[in-house]
Amino acid sequence: MDISSELINWYLINKRSLPWRETTDPYTIWLSEIILQQTRVEQGLPYFYIFLEKYPSVKDFAEASEDDILKLWQGLGYYSRGRNMLKTAKEINDNLGGNFPVRYCDLIKLKGIGEYTASAISSFAANEERAVVDGNVFRVLSRFFGVDEPINSQKGKKLFQNIANQILNKEHSGMHNQAMMEFGALHCRAQKPLCSTCPISLNCHALKNNTITSLPVKIKKVKLKERFFTYLLVIKDDHILMNKRGDGDIWANLFELPLIETPNELSEPDLLILPEFMQQFGNDTTVEHFGDTHKHLLTHQKLFVKIIRIKTNSIAFNKEWFFVPIKRLNELALPKIVDLLLRQLITL
Ligand code: ADE
Repeated sequence: MDISSELINWYLINKRSLPWRETTDPYTIWLSEIILQQTRVEQGLPYFYIFLEKYPSVKDFAEASEDDILKLWQGLGYYSRGRNMLKTAKEINDNLGGNFPVRYCDLIKLKGIGEYTASAISSFAANEERAVVDGNVFRVLSRFFGVDEPINSQKGKKLFQNIANQILNKEHSGMHNQAMMEFGALHCRAQKPLCSTCPISLNCHALKNNTITSLPVKIKKVKLKERFFTYLLVIKDDHILMNKRGDGDIWANLFELPLIETPNELSEPDLLILPEFMQQFGNDTTVEHFGDTHKHLLTHQKLFVKIIRIKTNSIAFNKEWFFVPIKRLNELALPKIVDLLLRQLITL
């Protein structure tokens, strides 16, 4: 018997009874898949029930406010998942007649839906021939076929997707995918896999070669240094307050807005009482717009950048600060992320 048939047989006997497996409704499957990203089943399950009860259809979800969604999402982490879900629900409601797509090619265009999620929804809801590859599938495939290509390298990702496509059971792709993932989650576990009762152990390359514990291979990425940049946007009479950066750090000698760097993300109340801020702008200053945080990756650093527009009557000038007419800002070299965020706030 081939690996897919073996694992489907195993699945039918051993699977957990989970609510999203009892439906082919793409909205319900989407809800479960997004909740289960970076979240264990036991932790995600109560959230799944609460969301489905409160928003039984994509239309109900689309009509929710972002505050409501984020409140329900509280405790799950990775809040951009919730925000993206709302955008996607609105897109489906407003532009797709409220019909949740089931085809991979339509799903992949939606915010927050990548290759894995589009494959999962299209195969579970419509049996489309798409093989899913998640962490569990990587483990099963790397061990069974003895593949030591790192699962987080570009080459590895391609290779594993190709293997997954080759062994896909084309008539029962949804069940095949569920079976692969469930087998990885329950049987071919990361720690203490149950090799002695494994239905595919006879042909398992890693078991034969004693490499179970070293597979799958993952490249350890060096942790990037995290920095939190809060830029202050001050505009007076069509002039903008700028800072010239010095040497010895990233973006040497480039131009930017006045910057406050903190060890953690800065909230609005924290900003207003920060000694550095009070010294530069006094306490006769109000916040006009508190921007969102944007992640920006450099080779060795991860920056969290935001721009806050303030209105102020007192500026304690530092020797690197100067006002420049907005229409001449184009003449200055700005770091890419500063340029990008600034263009979202003003026309340059
Ligand atoms: N994790 C992600 N998707 C899942 C699913 N459909 N069943 C169980 N665990 C999952």
